[in-house]
Amino acid sequence: MAHLRILSTLPILALLFLVCGPAGSWALAPREGILLVAFGTSVPEAARAFTTIESEYREAFPDVPIVWAYTSQIIRKKLASQGIHVGGIAQGLDDLAAKGVKTVYIQSLHMVAGEEFAALARAALLAAKSHADQFEAVYLGRPLLESDEDAALVAKAVKLALASRRNAGEGLALMAHGQEQGRGDLVLRGARGALAEEDPLIFLGTVEGSRSFEDMLGDVGKKPVKKIWLMPFMVVAGEHARNDLAGEEPDSWASRLRQAGYEVQPTIQGLGELPAIGKIFVQHTRSTRDNLLDEPRKP
Ligand code: CO
Repeated sequence: MAHLRILSTLPILALLFLVCGPAGSWALAPREGILLVAFGTSVPEAARAFTTIESEYREAFPDVPIVWAYTSQIIRKKLASQGIHVGGIAQGLDDLAAKGVKTVYIQSLHMVAGEEFAALARAALLAAKSHADQFEAVYLGRPLLESDEDAALVAKAVKLALASRRNAGEGLALMAHGQEQGRGDLVLRGARGALAEEDPLIFLGTVEGSRSFEDMLGDVGKKPVKKIWLMPFMVVAGEHARNDLAGEEPDSWASRLRQAGYEVQPTIQGLGELPAIGKIFVQHTRSTRDNLLDEPRKP
């Protein structure tokens, strides 16, 4: 009897494995799916960074379902009031499960594994556990700056971003998002080294972090620089880039650099708008072996 029951459920299992394709044809259910996770932004121009990252993912993983999750509840609520619905991590997993996905790649779109990534990792672990019966594996991809190689690639991409406009001898000041006492700032220190190796006229400071504007201004002062370009060292050019970096208020970096006698040229472009950055995230998704459903084991 048990034997028969297995035989009779086989065709049903096979049917479950099939889903209706976009043209109404029967197609194989996707085995793999991707959940892109960002803090989120409600600035429409800033969302360009996400569009660029998504197109890198679509190119790298054709036919693989891609779902977005924003970790910020305030931004999710704000967007929902405008009719734009982006869920959190658990909702993203629900969506992928509904599409028949069995292996999920959760990819953090954060710059560094700081405070926000730690929260994301914990939320992802809890969500993965609560969906354990729906997935075979739930992998977690690490943020942008994870290795020396990442830092070098990011430094190259940053330099290249302005290559056609920034002349020799002109500086570039980058605004990163730091943490007063967090580990994120330690990674940013490493990135600062990689940027200086790539181009000694690239400077980095932080908002809400340990590398202050004054520290950065001190670095700038050591170089024979008259004109300075400004760019956020953040995936999206949101409020910090628009106000604290390039804003007209007297306390913005642009105003303070002008006050210090520099010619200033702000560019409000998130790093995510550079295809090279999306490619690094794609690489992190491809290389992750961190299955949240597996207990780590030492041999
Ligand atoms: Co902030």
